[in-house]
Amino acid sequence: MKKRVVVTGASSGIGAASVRRFAALGWETVAVARRKDRLDVLAQETGAYPIVCDVTDEAQLAALAAEVAATGGATALLGNAGGAIGTESVEHSSTDDWRRMFEVNVLGLRATIAALLPVLRDGARETGWASIMTLTSTAGHDVYPGGGGYNAAKFAAHALTGVLRLELAGEPIRVMEIAPGLVHTEEFTLNRLRGDAQGVDKTYADVIPLRAEDVANVIVNAFEQPPHVNQDLIVLRPVAQSSVFHTHRGDLTPRA
Ligand SMILES: NC(=O)c1ccc[n+]([C@@H]2O[C@H](COP(=O)([O-])OP(=O)(O)OC[C@H]3O[C@@H](n4cnc5c(N)ncnc54)[C@H](OP(=O)(O)O)[C@@H]3O)[C@@H](O)[C@H]2O)c1
Repeated sequence: MKKRVVVTGASSGIGAASVRRFAALGWETVAVARRKDRLDVLAQETGAYPIVCDVTDEAQLAALAAEVAATGGATALLGNAGGAIGTESVEHSSTDDWRRMFEVNVLGLRATIAALLPVLRDGARETGWASIMTLTSTAGHDVYPGGGGYNAAKFAAHALTGVLRLELAGEPIRVMEIAPGLVHTEEFTLNRLRGDAQGVDKTYADVIPLRAEDVANVIVNAFEQPPHVNQDLIVLRPVAQSSVFHTHRGDLTPRA
C-alpha cells in the first residue's frame, strides 16, 4: 500500500493546501468535504480522490469509510473540517451557533476518527504504522473574550485528541494535534463574521498572518517524520502574533 491520507475539510483553506502538499510529496490523497464542485477542481489539480461527506452525519461517515477501504485504504487521517461561528459573548451568543460549532469541531471529529480507525488499523497491519492528526487551534489552548463556543469546542477537540492518544497506546498509530494561530484563509473569518467582508479585511489588516500553505507544510512535515516519532502538539503562530492577545500590526523591525 502506498502512503494514503484522508483529509477532511479539503474543499478550501488549510485542508486544500494540505492535499496539495501531500500530493506534491507523492502521497495518495482522499479529499473530503460537502462541496463537490470544489473537491472536483482540487481532484483535477492534484489527483486526489474526492468524496463528498458531511462529517456531522454518521451514515455518510460510514459510507466514507467503506469507500476509502474499497479504493485503496488509508494510512493517515487529517481531521481538519471545522470552523467558528460568531464572536458574541457567552451571555449573548446563541445556543444554535454553539451547537453547530460542537457538531463539526468535536462530534464530527470524534465520529470521523471512529469511522476511519478500522481502516487505519488495516493500513497499519499492512504497512506497520498509521497516523492521525487533529486540527485544533490556539483557541483550543487559550480563551479570549468573544471566543465562546469556538474556544469551548476547540478545547474539547484538544481533550479528545489527548484521550485518543492514551486509548491507542500499544498500537502503532501516532496521534498528533496542530494548533494554529491566525491563518488567512479565504472562508474561515468570513464564516465566523457571518459574511462581513469589511470585518475580514480588518482582521487581517496590517498584519502578516500564516497562510494555508504555511500550515500545510508543517502538517505534512509531521506526517513525513519516521513513523515512531509522535509530535503530540504543534503550536504554530505567525511571528506577528505572540499570543491570542498580542497581534502586532505594522512593520516588524529589529529594535535599535
Ligand atoms: N483560519 C484560521 O485562522 C484557523 C486557525 C486555527 C485553526 N483553524 C482550524 O483549521 C481548520 C481549517 O480551517 P480553514 O481556515 O482552512 O477554514 P475554511 O477555509 O473555512 O475550511 C473549512 C473546511 O471544513 C469543511 N467543512 C466544514 N463543515 C464541514 C462538515 N460538516 N463536513 C465536512 N466538511 C466540512 C469546509 O468544506 P465544505 O463547506 O465544502 O464542507 C472547508 O473545506 C478548522 O478546523 C479551523 O477551525 C483555522
